[in-house]
Amino acid sequence: VNVKILPDKTHASEEVAQILHDLIVEKPNAVIGVATGSTPEGAYERLAEKIKEHNTDVSQLRFFALDEYVGISWDHPESYHAVINRTVTVPLGVDPSQVNVPEAPDDAPVGSVESYDEKIAAAGGIDLQLLGIGRNGHIGFNEPGTPFDAPTHVGELTNITREDNSRFFEGGVDEVPPTAITQGIGTILKSRQAILMAFGEAKADAIRDSLATPPAEDRPGSSLQHHSNCVLYLDEAAAAKIE
Ligand code: F6R
Repeated sequence: VNVKILPDKTHASEEVAQILHDLIVEKPNAVIGVATGSTPEGAYERLAEKIKEHNTDVSQLRFFALDEYVGISWDHPESYHAVINRTVTVPLGVDPSQVNVPEAPDDAPVGSVESYDEKIAAAGGIDLQLLGIGRNGHIGFNEPGTPFDAPTHVGELTNITREDNSRFFEGGVDEVPPTAITQGIGTILKSRQAILMAFGEAKADAIRDSLATPPAEDRPGSSLQHHSNCVLYLDEAAAAKIE
């Protein structure tokens, strides 16, 4: 794992947007894995500006979102279908048919595996996977204890994750679904390149734990030590506890 420490989120978002834009110019049919949450928002905004500025062809790109709540309607503004549409599909000017978000039926049991990984493989695999990290070290919605070889599956969300994400829901934590479908750690590790962004002091423990050796399944972020090409883009606050 390589680590880049930038002065702030704005600088980090600019660098990541530039990497994405370079990839798109070099490989117009690239397959890009996209995260939701607050962390990548700035990078998506800057990427949208670059695409506009350079009139970049985006018509052949394919996108695969990391995760989605189970039991939430896609027209709910905080479903990840809606969030990806609002932050990626529309601003980048891509057709919705180019964008995939994992789906599981409302009654999908924890542990059930969906066919998303086959869809990713059929697209040629993910060229660049963007990631954020939870305060408890989750990547995607792979909570602590998830096996490192897990495929896309339905998992239970921890209380800390539901509380953190309750800021997006009017009804508070009770409105945050208890389960989600997520690309597995095994899925994430198959991407050809991964970029994890983390900003703010709330992420400092998770970053320290992700870099601590040896990798262990109670620290999902540490699985990235098994990734062949992974860079962490951090601001100084998120990097504060790295030795
Ligand atoms: C989002 C995702 C999560 C978030 C993480 C951080 O698709 O998979 O792992 O990246 O919860 O969320 P934010 O960026 O809101 O701090």
